[in-house]
Amino acid sequence: MARFFFLAALLASIASVYGQCGSGNPNAKVTGSGSSFTATRGSTTLYTGSDYRLAIQTAVDSISSGQRVSVIASGSIGASTITIQSGKTFEGCGTIDVGTKSGRGAIEVTNASGVKIPYLTMTGNPYFGLRFFGTKDLELGQITFDLSGGLAIRFDRDQAANTNVKMDTITCKRTGSHCVETWNIDQLQIGSVIARNVGECGLLLQKVTNAKVGLVDGDNVAAGNGYATLRFANQNGKLNGGYATNIYIDKVKSRGGGRGVFCVSESGAAEIGSVDLASNGNNAILLENCYNVNIKGGTVNGGGPVRLAARTEFANSKDIAITLKVDGTEVQENPCTANKTKWSLTGNGKRTICT
Ligand SMILES: *[C@@H]1O[C@H](CO)[C@@H](O)[C@H](O)[C@H]1NC(C)=O
Ligand SMILES: *[C@@H]1O[C@H](CO)[C@@H](O)[C@H](O)[C@H]1NC(C)=O
Repeated sequence: MARFFFLAALLASIASVYGQCGSGNPNAKVTGSGSSFTATRGSTTLYTGSDYRLAIQTAVDSISSGQRVSVIASGSIGASTITIQSGKTFEGCGTIDVGTKSGRGAIEVTNASGVKIPYLTMTGNPYFGLRFFGTKDLELGQITFDLSGGLAIRFDRDQAANTNVKMDTITCKRTGSHCVETWNIDQLQIGSVIARNVGECGLLLQKVTNAKVGLVDGDNVAAGNGYATLRFANQNGKLNGGYATNIYIDKVKSRGGGRGVFCVSESGAAEIGSVDLASNGNNAILLENCYNVNIKGGTVNGGGPVRLAARTEFANSKDIAITLKVDGTEVQENPCTANKTKWSLTGNGKRTICT
């Protein structure tokens, strides 16, 4: 509990230091609507015309590190990419509609440090809404996606790693794929990920170390597939060759959809303060070949089973501790984990576990 309040307070500060979107005197601005947009820097007009993307990119390119651009206008950038360079603050105050550019982000920050995006509202169907790699000291504030498909936030797998990433509140509606997919981040702090009618994961952590997350809240996430409201995969949490706890999640809530919590492929080093899972269409919780996972409390109500399992391709799960009230669904452990799972179960759910 103490950790939750501490983290919430810490993350609340990310957005609050910026004031309202577009307030004060942003160094550059994009204004207009319909088919007429203007980019200005101070009193200088940089661009006037019908190309919303060009207006935005011109404004971004015109500011220096340490300066801020506010996109006041709403419009569509189509199937294209806006690039934000090191040290710049980008505020999306209007609604930025985007199209699908294969393999690319509608907005990208790559090999850059100190970029801040305190506000952003995106609609449309991006390949990736926001795409990142090689970032350092990246800050995302209040970021909202209301999409018709695509993946909202993606940190690349096969590119340079990231250090010190902060996100305040990420809200996703109707992504076809994940809301937040991370790879290769050391030092990640997230306030909340709110996922509604999301196709794949709410929050997916892969090869992330030293993470602190407040809330992951999913409703109808990953329906009909093997993803989950919260998923750890691909050696998530593995640090210096071991699995000492370094991934802290305060709370996971999930309703309906597919899985609630899913840990797989040699991930772990994780502590989840509490879960509130109900009516999940697949396993409420599945831990498969995971090492050092402690679920410290909470409830599972109906839906698919709470399940500890293992595939033969990786070492069996070990060092698992689960304190949980499970009603209306089964608790299964097969095979028995190495180093004996510490179960502390209440509720009426049938148990097929190793004791
Ligand atoms: C990003 O930075 C890394 C490390 O400096 C470098 O190896 C890589 O080529 C850069 N990628 C791009 C696309 O610039
Ligand atoms: C088993 O658990 C004990 C106590 O928690 C720990 O010290 C030990 O490292 C674990 N053994 C293995 C093989 O992980």
